[in-house]
Amino acid sequence: MSSRRKVLLMGKSGSGKTSMRSIIFANYIARDCSRLGPTIEVEHAHVRFLGNLVLHLWDCGGQESFMENFLVSQKDQIFKNVQVLIYVFDVESREFEKDLRYYQSCLEALLQNSPKAQVFCLIHKMDLIEEDHREETFKKREADVLRYSELAARPHQVERENAVCQCFKSSIWDETLYKAWSTIVYKLVPNVGIMEEKLKKFAAILDADEIILFERATFLVIAHAETREHKDSHRFEKVSNIIKQFKLSCRCHFELESMHVKNSSFSAFIDTFTANTFIMVVLRDGNASVAATQLNIKLARPHFE
Ligand code: GTP
Repeated sequence: MSSRRKVLLMGKSGSGKTSMRSIIFANYIARDCSRLGPTIEVEHAHVRFLGNLVLHLWDCGGQESFMENFLVSQKDQIFKNVQVLIYVFDVESREFEKDLRYYQSCLEALLQNSPKAQVFCLIHKMDLIEEDHREETFKKREADVLRYSELAARPHQVERENAVCQCFKSSIWDETLYKAWSTIVYKLVPNVGIMEEKLKKFAAILDADEIILFERATFLVIAHAETREHKDSHRFEKVSNIIKQFKLSCRCHFELESMHVKNSSFSAFIDTFTANTFIMVVLRDGNASVAATQLNIKLARPHFE
């Protein structure tokens, strides 16, 4: 039986909602997103994820007239039975205060109708901010968003165990988009803890530095296990981004099955794993046997199906 998750994607017109959805779930590349037209009312997309998890994405057009309808006449329909709200802010918006007030209204409607929903805010188009100022700008915007989140949540505080919302910086032009969406999806996948326990055991058996599971269609990171500390905390999203770009840049329509990357100090194997995942195994041995590793991956498969 499939389990459905209603995911609302909201934010003002032009903030980048349809672009990110198209890149993550419909294999668009960033430069094609400028051709997307505005979303009229709500566009629905059903995304099958890991076999039986279906994400029902409600991409809510951000033009003011639509937003007002969502908050008044369609309030129940939009905000009922929601598992996740992803609210997108354009970091360069000239009307950030106004955006915040819209966000507050949406959050109030959400908390009334779906008090347990998880909320994620993306401070988007970060590529438009000079690199030296990105962190500072993000922190400022994040503080504003959290302040308005608290205001909206005040009457509901007792019902919520966790923070009202979590903020991410994102851009369609780099791996930050994958970081944000992987973290969101991670929270939606059932039994992710069990999967990570199994990955840990598998990593120990193989003496692997690291093992990562990616969802097959989107290449979002679902679970990982590492036996060694790594300095680059963005490495998963970079791999997601690189593989997705690689697949898209190959003109022929092939299905990626496996890939082996090595140098003198490591080997990385990317292989099809279960029906809905790819696995990446990183070994600290540049001469690791391809056949042996592929056999080990094959033998592990049934334990994850
Ligand atoms: P509505 O459908 O009207 O609600 O808008 P939307 O939020 O879906 O915006 P859309 O995805 O259509 O994007 C609007 C414009 O922003 C497009 O020209 C995109 O190319 C651009 N855009 C989206 N994401 C980014 C980003 O991360 N950086 C930059 N620089 N531009 C972006």
